[in-house]
Amino acid sequence: MIQENVLEALKHVTYPGFTKDIVTFGFVKDIAIEGNTVALTIDITSSADEVKAQIKQDATTELQKIGFETTIITITAPQAPKQLSNSMSGKNIAPHVKNFVMVSSGKGGVGKSTTSVNIAVALAMQGKKVGLLDADIYGPNVPRMMGLDGQKPEIQGNKVLPLKAYGVEVMSMGLLMESGQSLIWRGSMIMKAIEQFLRDILWSELDVLVIDMPPGTGDAQLTLAQSVPVTAGITVTTPQMVSLDDSRRSLDMFKKLHIPTAGVIENMSGFICPECDTESDIFGMGTTAPMAKEYDTELIARIPIEPAIRIGGDSGMPITYHKPDSQTAKRYQEAATVLWAFIEKVNAEGGANNQAIQPTTPPGVSACSTTATTATAKPHSHEHSNSGGGCGSHNGDGKGGCGCH
Ligand SMILES: Nc1ncnc2c1ncn2[C@@H]1O[C@H](COP(=O)(O)OP(=O)(O)OP(=O)(O)O)[C@@H](O)[C@H]1O
Ligand SMILES: [Mg+2]
Repeated sequence: MIQENVLEALKHVTYPGFTKDIVTFGFVKDIAIEGNTVALTIDITSSADEVKAQIKQDATTELQKIGFETTIITITAPQAPKQLSNSMSGKNIAPHVKNFVMVSSGKGGVGKSTTSVNIAVALAMQGKKVGLLDADIYGPNVPRMMGLDGQKPEIQGNKVLPLKAYGVEVMSMGLLMESGQSLIWRGSMIMKAIEQFLRDILWSELDVLVIDMPPGTGDAQLTLAQSVPVTAGITVTTPQMVSLDDSRRSLDMFKKLHIPTAGVIENMSGFICPECDTESDIFGMGTTAPMAKEYDTELIARIPIEPAIRIGGDSGMPITYHKPDSQTAKRYQEAATVLWAFIEKVNAEGGANNQAIQPTTPPGVSACSTTATTATAKPHSHEHSNSGGGCGSHNGDGKGGCGCH
């Protein structure tokens, strides 16, 4: 038996929550073989005990299958990070929040808010301290979806207390203005609003803040990424090609904003008939995984079209909480588990860092563009508190020349 046999066998051990195996990830080290005994080290990136136990068990099984009687497997893992991810260099205007998740999409109406709500509720049901920020200033839907429509948050001094539903702290522009009111805002005002949501809301010491973004790749996304180190980005898409085209822009934006991409959620993927529980294809299914691969990430959930999801949204009763045994609730729970594993991996590898996209990058080099241009070196409008060079999107009217747009 030689090292190659061992590596071949361990290629059957996938890293929990991911599709790649531990050999491909490069985690297997120091293989020593003597007769029927093999000793090796698996150097993983997660500090979670259940991940260690799972890998050890799977590796032992695979090595026994190829004839080893004694397996000595040492798993080395990083210490659970004591520091918050936001203590990294870069900017963080909400340092009491440990992790930030940006839920984005290229297209409107594909299910970002529904996904944000259900993932936030799933994470809370898994014991995490969770906040949900509705950063869709123009179309705030989260209050209705969380059953908080019409409620007003308490003001403390010049700060605002988030409301709470299903174990999740919630804030939205919809909670701060009268229902049905429209907002006509300039880009610079959107940036200020996003900053205030992070700075002036009395969030607890959250494990994670899930942020439901407006559709597209604009000022809100850029301001958020510059204001806090976003630990994970999720792109929501529907399976049609026209939606996938827009999703590519969203995935590209994560890359340009240095946001680690947790993966893609394919929403409205097939239809589950409420009568017979069978699944049929409407917008197409399974088109998303190849696109995710193009961007070095993966499909983390396929959520079908299901009337109960829409009803749950309209009635403020998220399916994940109210129908926990449904197939869809289980898929949201799985997606939340994968997301959390990803967050742990990012933190074990040093955490998110938004230093590179701060507006202080050298003049002429846009944080969002791969080439230096003189156009991006223009001084920024004084209206925006982050201004000072760098990304050309920060002109006062929010219509900049940033490559992210
Ligand atoms: N898988 C699904 N099955 C059935 N209905 C769904 C599903 N996903 C979302 N919906 C419904 O589709 C509508 C749009 O979803 P949602 O508001 O979450 O999209 P969005 O991407 O946040 O939209 P916007 O871009 O306007 O913010 C909502 O009524 C929601 O309840
Ligand atoms: Mg929305």
